[in-house]
Amino acid sequence: MLFEKLSCLLVFGSSVSAFVLNRPAYQSVLDDHQLIKHSANTDFDTLFETKFPEFYSKYHLNHNLSSIFNLHKTLVDIPSLSTHEQAVTHYVVRFLQKRGLTVETSKLPNSTRENIYAYYNDGVYGNNSHRKILLTSHLDTVPPYLGYNLDESTGVITGRGANDAKASLVVQIYSVLELIEEGKLDPLEFAFLFVVGEEIDGDGMKHAMETFKLDNGELKYSWDVAIFGEPTENKLGKGHKGNYMFDLAINGKPAHSGYPQLGVSANEILVSVLNQLMVNSHKYPSSDILGETTFNIGTMQGGIALNVIPADAHARLFFRVANDLNKLHWIVTEIIDNANANWAMRYPGFTSPFIEVHNLSSKEPQFLDYEVPGFESIVLAFATDIPDFTIPVKRRYLYGPGSIFSAHSDHEFVTIDELIECLEGYKKLVVFNLENL
Ligand SMILES: *[C@@H]1O[C@H](CO)[C@@H](O)[C@H](O)[C@H]1NC(C)=O
Ligand SMILES: *[C@@H]1O[C@H](CO)[C@@H](O)[C@H](O)[C@H]1NC(C)=O
Ligand SMILES: *[C@@H]1O[C@H](CO)[C@@H](O)[C@H](O)[C@H]1NC(C)=O
Ligand SMILES: *[C@@H]1O[C@H](CO)[C@@H](O)[C@H](O)[C@H]1NC(C)=O
Repeated sequence: MLFEKLSCLLVFGSSVSAFVLNRPAYQSVLDDHQLIKHSANTDFDTLFETKFPEFYSKYHLNHNLSSIFNLHKTLVDIPSLSTHEQAVTHYVVRFLQKRGLTVETSKLPNSTRENIYAYYNDGVYGNNSHRKILLTSHLDTVPPYLGYNLDESTGVITGRGANDAKASLVVQIYSVLELIEEGKLDPLEFAFLFVVGEEIDGDGMKHAMETFKLDNGELKYSWDVAIFGEPTENKLGKGHKGNYMFDLAINGKPAHSGYPQLGVSANEILVSVLNQLMVNSHKYPSSDILGETTFNIGTMQGGIALNVIPADAHARLFFRVANDLNKLHWIVTEIIDNANANWAMRYPGFTSPFIEVHNLSSKEPQFLDYEVPGFESIVLAFATDIPDFTIPVKRRYLYGPGSIFSAHSDHEFVTIDELIECLEGYKKLVVFNLENL
């Protein structure tokens, strides 16, 4: 009912719909002149009709191909390396505002970097408000910046962010706009959350979660379903591994290497404990969905000279956790405690622990929803913002165009077909959830 009333008020294009009541004050670093300068204006329809007639005839009736691909080109061309997302944020803000969405931006502490939360507003959406569907992705990219290119013979689009995750931003935005126009989505049933900092430490998503919590402990906003946009080859992510990273610090005792009995070799202890961690790897928790917990001895340092018994050694370890982070921590702790006890017996004069563990970071593995008719699924080894998305929802999906195998590389790409297939996939996924909540 509400939808019927609202849909006639929705005006797309440059005008702003009438029901947007409380638009927050917004300071832009890009004025309108610059925004127009930044906007790509390629006649993709003609280009596709000429170069990719099959693609064009398949999709042009149901999708505004020029609008979709110009948004993608614009977003890829605006550099947005992690911690320098401002320009792309401002572009997305203006884009959404011009489509009549209410956009709330929220600056990270002591920073000009900001997250975007956007929705169609009926004037009552505020504290304790609920929407069925949240579409969320990230605004930042890894370095180095690589400009946009469409190969007109293959339909392959390269550029930094071409898939991770600017393709996801574009398909999330247009899937919703199309569904609303088709009358399949009530504009008041969804919201967008686009965050900064996903490629570094998730500071954007962590901040977003803070801003959604009210002083009285209740939630400002909540949702039934959250769909995370990342490159998954247009398949639903079954889940992804967590992580456990720590620094092993070994305390030995220096001595002349001719008199090793006067010292304790930190290097020997390090090699020995790393060996224990390797030979016990079959004990690390695995899962049917995510497979084995694997680990990488990323760095090792120890000793100062060939003729000195080394007093200090360090290694940094990175576990990709397939199941039960606490159990893994417990197993690792037991191995290290046993090693400490053994070295203490061998060197009874020493009191300090020989081996110390200093946590660097840890995150639980994520198990997601993926059983939706018509969708393939995929297991992913990469990390996302999902562990930092701490507000409970009924379902979580991970879905987007492009492959992790090219993301972050110098040949990051997405194809024109993948992008539109994913857009249609997003529409199906949203409709499936609206019908099956
Ligand atoms: C922000 O800056 C102020 C003043 O420099 C400082 O006291 C505060 O700790 C900073 N907050 C964060 C979260 O960095
Ligand atoms: C929401 O709650 C916050 C914190 O309790 C308050 O500052 C704000 O005014 C409220 N906003 C609305 C729209 O009620
Ligand atoms: C597609 O283009 C038409 C014509 O310009 C416009 O009326 C419509 O709102 C556009 N649809 C979307 C989803 O952008
Ligand atoms: C280190 O991380 C593990 C895994 O999250 C956790 O169980 C443990 O309590 C942490 N140790 C310290 C000292 O914080």
